[in-house]
Amino acid sequence: MNDLLPAYERPVLVRHARGAMNKFSRAASMQPATELDGVPYDRLLEAYGSPLFAFSERTLVQTYRQLEDAFATRWPRVRIAWSYKTNYLDGICRLLHQQGAWAEVVSGFEYDKAVRNGVPESRIHFNGPAKSEADLDKAFRGDAIVHLDHFDELALAERVARRLGVRPGVALRLNLATDGVPAWTRFGFNLESGEALSAVRRLIAGDVLQLVGLHCHIGTFIPEVGPYQQAARKLALFANLLRADHGITVDFLDLGGGFASHNTLKAQYLPGTEASPTFARYAEAIVDGLEALDVDPLERPTLVLETGRALVDDAGHLVTTVVANKRLPDGRRALVLDAGVNSLFTAFWYKHDVVPTAPVHGIPEPTILYGPLCMNIDCMRDTLQFPPMSPGEHLVFHHVGAYNVTQWMQFITYRPAVCLVGQDGQHALLRRRETLDDVAGCEELPAWIG
Ligand SMILES: Cc1ncc(COP(=O)(O)O)c(C=O)c1O
Repeated sequence: MNDLLPAYERPVLVRHARGAMNKFSRAASMQPATELDGVPYDRLLEAYGSPLFAFSERTLVQTYRQLEDAFATRWPRVRIAWSYKTNYLDGICRLLHQQGAWAEVVSGFEYDKAVRNGVPESRIHFNGPAKSEADLDKAFRGDAIVHLDHFDELALAERVARRLGVRPGVALRLNLATDGVPAWTRFGFNLESGEALSAVRRLIAGDVLQLVGLHCHIGTFIPEVGPYQQAARKLALFANLLRADHGITVDFLDLGGGFASHNTLKAQYLPGTEASPTFARYAEAIVDGLEALDVDPLERPTLVLETGRALVDDAGHLVTTVVANKRLPDGRRALVLDAGVNSLFTAFWYKHDVVPTAPVHGIPEPTILYGPLCMNIDCMRDTLQFPPMSPGEHLVFHHVGAYNVTQWMQFITYRPAVCLVGQDGQHALLRRRETLDDVAGCEELPAWIG
């Protein structure tokens, strides 16, 4: 074979799809993403292997400041409580706590992680529908803020508080209807049915818990601001009622999380980078709703935000390697990658932005990206226009910082390493790649198997 001749590639017919061309020319070829904050992806892969989650400290900190500024310029007292379930890697949590974030947790495990990360317990908001007696005991001893979810929990919380001889401050989680967002009615006390008011009366009658806050979390990835205006207004009106009828003035109103990140849902037409509202728009809507509060401006309650995905998604990237390149019977090109939905759980919901890490040449054509799972569910991107790529080349998926390094599965392969690129170009591991000992370490062999 003559090395000077280019390798033969079988010719393909490319069916013209709407959008592949426009009146100016063929669609611009895909821009590669070669580096993260000045550090080439290739260097990160050399250091930590493939696949690899890589986080940008700069993006994380900038996004936090943007969120804080958007609200602090519009409301006098704002608290961001970092939603641990979104990403509870210690390095990520600590960076956010260094910026001033409190913690929002939904289990004893997350609570312990926040404490280990140095969060004072009095700065923990404790949500979740299944707190145990031991969880409540720990939270009340630590002076954390428990958000009550249902009547059974209310009664259990009273028992624990009486046993400890304390009168803890608690919040009520409410669920409420907003236009355009299916209500998450499984969590908290329903507002419209009167259940929330019954909970207040029951709590007052118990004479052991102090109501210090109202909370709602209307859903997740809500790319509209209207529902937030409505939710804030409903919380404000309920707070007015508590004040007028029961003499209770709450310290905080907590609007939960749910802001959309820059991802694109599978059903969305416009890319998330264009469609998702800015923090400023969410803030305007919420503050507009809170104007219904009937309190002296100097006594306005603290506005708590439990923003998860919109804070951390953009900071995370998943770098993968092409393992093989094949053609499916329907004519589509397929790229087999070394990372699948076991690592990128959010591939089930989003059309993630994905690009090569080096310039590539060749005609883009309909391509499916999938991973190593040997199961049909393993689809990282279903049919996108993608340039040809060869084994050993790399791709990077963007906006993957939320819910992947917590919801990933140890299934078929090891969970990959996670690294952080610092603000001045240094980089380090946040979590090493798993090993066989990590995975099999919890297993036991019954004596009769030997
Ligand atoms: C109570 C609560 N707060 C905050 C969040 C974070 O939500 P998001 O990541 O949509 O901002 C969640 C996520 O489900 C939640 O359940």
